[in-house]
Order: sequence, then structure tokens, then C-alpha cells
Amino acid sequence: MARVEVSTNRPYHLVIFGASGFTGQFVAEEVARTASEVPGGSLKWAVAGRSRQKLEKVLEQAAGVLSKPELRTEVDILVADVGEPDSLAAMCKQAVIVLNCVGPYRFYGEPVVKACVENGAHHIDICGEPQFLEGMQFKYNSQAADSGVYVIGSCGFDSIPADMGVVFTRDQFMGTLTTVESFLTVSTGPDGGCIHDGTWQSAIYGFADGQKLLSLRRKFNHKPLPTVGSKLKRRGMLFFSNEIQQYTVPFMGSDPSVVKRSQRFMVEEHQASQVQYGAYAGVGGVVSVAKLIFAGMMFWLLVKFSFGRNLLIKYPELFTFGTFSKAGPSRKQMDGTSFQFTFCGEGYSEDQDPSKGNPNGKIRVLVQGPEPGYVATPIAMVQAALTMLNEPSSLPKKGGVYTPGAAFAKTTLIDRLNKHGIQFSVM
Ligand SMILES: NC(=O)c1ccc[n+]([C@@H]2O[C@H](COP(=O)([O-])OP(=O)(O)OC[C@H]3O[C@@H](n4cnc5c(N)ncnc54)[C@H](OP(=O)(O)O)[C@@H]3O)[C@@H](O)[C@H]2O)c1
Repeated sequence: MARVEVSTNRPYHLVIFGASGFTGQFVAEEVARTASEVPGGSLKWAVAGRSRQKLEKVLEQAAGVLSKPELRTEVDILVADVGEPDSLAAMCKQAVIVLNCVGPYRFYGEPVVKACVENGAHHIDICGEPQFLEGMQFKYNSQAADSGVYVIGSCGFDSIPADMGVVFTRDQFMGTLTTVESFLTVSTGPDGGCIHDGTWQSAIYGFADGQKLLSLRRKFNHKPLPTVGSKLKRRGMLFFSNEIQQYTVPFMGSDPSVVKRSQRFMVEEHQASQVQYGAYAGVGGVVSVAKLIFAGMMFWLLVKFSFGRNLLIKYPELFTFGTFSKAGPSRKQMDGTSFQFTFCGEGYSEDQDPSKGNPNGKIRVLVQGPEPGYVATPIAMVQAALTMLNEPSSLPKKGGVYTPGAAFAKTTLIDRLNKHGIQFSVM
């Protein structure tokens, strides 16, 4: 394939595709907020999607929220539809980076990745679906490398805090870090909180298609990564965690898959030693556990059949005790919500040989931030994009399909996140 030009000499540094979606509107707002932080206000950006009318509304709303009336007239609108390849190509030719917010990615994502790779635009998404993320790596990694295009997935709450959290923990540990377990807790204010239907649908189809993910992984034919120190023990399906003082379950999102891929990159490309990783999420007290068990059983029962999936999709509030909703959280709910990731790491101190004896060092790291889905996700996505624009020489040498940890380990992304409300610190 002929090399395509990846140039900063395009009309827009950033194009937000799917800016009319629930998450996309907040990504657009975050770009508008951050554009003024760029020296000289020189960031050029546009919103894109299939409905000009909806995109006009998004700009109108952002103009009101941020008191920037100029957004209504100064930000360009590009009309592009996933089902119309020419419109995607035209969009990609105008962008240095496409921020893709159109999901579920398993249905809509691939044509956008393909158009980016073929037309020389970098691609950043906020996907939390391992099958899509790993599938894109399988299919487009070498083409993206040939084209000099970076396709960086899972740059939202899934999975920047977890993936960069492991990078940060390793960098802060004095010696050889061998294992990390993360414990996620989310707190809501008096108005509660919820997650928008878009993520619910992505989760339903992801679980229903679990078998395809396993067969995709077999195609990679990966050798197991060498472990240093003893093997990290998996905890149970439900346990009381002393680390966060509440009942806890394995985290079902994309974090373990993303962190594992980052570790493989570091072992294979940088001859680093593997950090084994386990991800857990706090549930709370006994009542929350009972609700989770009931909701979990209904989910497993229904997700296998198309009739059941239709029910789950039709009534998200009912089947999740209000955790997911078609309306998404209100701004007030978002203001009252925050997350905390506690990372507990173990390893060998600098003066101990990692090939002998048991790990003798521990570290605890905290990554905390605002509401995960629609405040932290836009911050993480936009900072990932600005890092790409500003620090191209700190990215991996070749283009390709990367995780955040693989792409950004040598950049200042963590410093940037610290300055924008997602804080990384040693406890
Ligand atoms: N990583 C994270 O932590 C995180 C956080 C939040 C969301 N997400 C993910 O982000 C994705 C979007 O979630 P959401 O809640 O924002 O969903 P949503 O509100 O349903 O938004 C979907 C967007 O896709 C657009 N779209 C659908 N079909 C299209 C097509 N054929 N051509 C062009 N655009 C099309 C929609 O356009 P219209 O407006 O015209 O319908 C809309 O802009 C999901 O996959 C979700 O899991 C991830």
C-alpha cells in the first residue's frame, strides 16, 4: 500500500466524530474549554456526525455552558455517516486526529478506523470493548504502521486511569514491580448517578459475543509472557476487600485486557519485565451485593438470547436498579460523582535480585478524578489527543494500533491529566 501523508498541515487538528452523542457532546465541550489553553488559541477543530442539525445544537449548548457565543459560528460542522465510506474519507482527509465517539464500536467502529488508516488521520477512541480493540489491532496494526498512523483505543475512563495507573506505579516503584491489583470505587452525591444507555448497549453485545473474543485471541497466537516473582493469585468472584473496606468483585470492563496488551508491548518492544495485573471494583455493603447478584443473574440469563437482549436494551433502568439509563446522568448528578482507583503493587527493591526469593517491596498509588463516563472520559480523550499533537517524538517509533500505556508511557500525559483533574499520586 502506498504511504499516505500524515500531516499537521490539515484544516483541523481535531475532528470530533459523533459529537451529537451523549458522550460526544461533552468531548466537544472539553475541546472548546481546552482549545483556549493552547498558546495563541491556535487549535483548529470541527465537529462531525450524521446530523448537521444535532451538531448545531451541540455547539449552541457548549456556547451557552462555556459562555463562548463564538462557538456557534466559528466551529465547522462536517457531515459524515459510518454507512457512507466517501463521507468518512472526506472527514479523515481534513483531520490530523479523529476523536471517534461513535459507538457501540463493534457495530460502527471499523469503517472509521479503516478510513483513518487509508487517509492518514490518527484515530483516538473511547471504546471499552476488548473484542473491537483487539480486533482492530489484529486487522490494522501493520497497515497503520506502514501508513504512519496511530490508532489508539480505550482513551476514556476505560482504560486510561487503569493503564496509565500501572505505568505510573511501575515508574514510581524503586526496583522491579511484579504485580499490581487495582480497586475501583465510585461515589455519588445526594442526587445519585448513572451511566448512559450507549455504554449499556456496548456491554450487552460484548458479553453476548464473548466466544468470538476467545477465538480472536487464539489467532494472535501469543506466547505467555514470562513472569517475575510468584504468579498473581486471582481473588474470588465476591470478597470483602481490606484494601477498600467493602465488598468487591472482579472488574468486568476492558481494563485487564488493555493493561495486558500494554504489558506485552513493553516486554516485547522494550524488554521490560511484566507487571501482572488484577482489576477489582467495590460494590459497597450487603444491600448493594444483593442487588448486584440479582441484576447479574438476570443479565446472564437474558444476554444469551436475542429476545432477552431486546428486553435488556429496552429497560436499562429496570434491569440495573437505575445504574444505566436512556437519559444519562444530569449535570447535577455528574457534579456530585467521582472515582478513586487504589493500586496495590508488589515487587523487588533495587538491592534484591528479582530472580531469587519473594518480593520485598510494596507501593500504593491513588488515581482519582471526577465523574468517570462524561467528565473524566472527555478529559482523558482530549489530553491524549493534545499529547499526540504536541509530543510526536515521544510516541512509539512506528504507527500502529496501540493501547494508551504503550502509546503514552514516555509522554507527559500523566502530568497533563494531573493538571486537568485526574490525579495520580503515591499514597
Ligand atoms: N471509555 C469510557 O469510559 C466511555 C465513556 C462513555 C462512553 N463510552 C463509549 O462511547 C460510545 C458512545 O456512547 P454514548 O453513550 O455517547 O452513545 P450515544 O449517545 O448513543 O452516541 C452515539 C453516537 O454515534 C452516532 N452514530 C450512530 N450511528 C451513526 C452512523 N451511522 N454514522 C455516524 N454517526 C453515528 C450517533 O449519532 P446521532 O446523534 O446522529 O444518532 C451519536 O452521535 C459507546 O461505545 C460507549 O461505550 C466509553
